[in-house]
Amino acid sequence: MVNLGDVFPNFTAESTIGTLDFHSFLGDKWGILFSHPADYTPVCTTELGKVAKLAPEFTKRNFKMLAISCDNVNDHLGWIKDIQAYNCLSGDFPFPIVADEKRELAIKLGMLDPDEKDSAGMPLTARAVFIIGPDKKLKLSILYPATTGRNFDEVLRVIDSLQLTAEKKVATPADWQAGGNCMVLPTIPSAEAKQLFPDHKVHEVPSGKQYLRTTPCPK
Ligand code: BEZ
Repeated sequence: MVNLGDVFPNFTAESTIGTLDFHSFLGDKWGILFSHPADYTPVCTTELGKVAKLAPEFTKRNFKMLAISCDNVNDHLGWIKDIQAYNCLSGDFPFPIVADEKRELAIKLGMLDPDEKDSAGMPLTARAVFIIGPDKKLKLSILYPATTGRNFDEVLRVIDSLQLTAEKKVATPADWQAGGNCMVLPTIPSAEAKQLFPDHKVHEVPSGKQYLRTTPCPK
């Protein structure tokens, strides 16, 4: 299992663009790695179509994208045609899919779903999302069971928060959307908060504690 802040383990694997070394593939960009239980499965087909449609949004945020599925490259290449047809997509598929036929990566990265088994009784790979920073450290991980598709608009929203909070001394509140008001970090003393966020507001609460400080989203 990889913890937040750990350097994400490197791996070499076959993919739809040939042999791929994960860290070299990322270069100095952010990375998103997302896993799929198997090729030619309905939920995965909708998910990969959605991510392919969102590819320009990930690129705009300086991201490299990589999918993993537990079948071989030939299956991936055939499945991509179905994904494109079902999701009304054409042209080059915008990111590679790694082959993890033996589930080696799924085991290494703690992505197995013990409740969902394939026809041979093997646990399927769950739906993991890993966001990796340009320093190769894990910034976020989510793990859904094989039976629940992910919301990639939410993943983009989280990325906006990760990229903002990596640079500015703010945190983002519930349901925050890019550009929305932020919370001044509780660790920032009031004098520094006034300097950094001149338009911030301290909210009165019954405890009298001055920890609820909102500011317009810093640029
Ligand atoms: C799917 O992608 O549709 C799926 C895969 C494994 C288990 C359940 C659903």
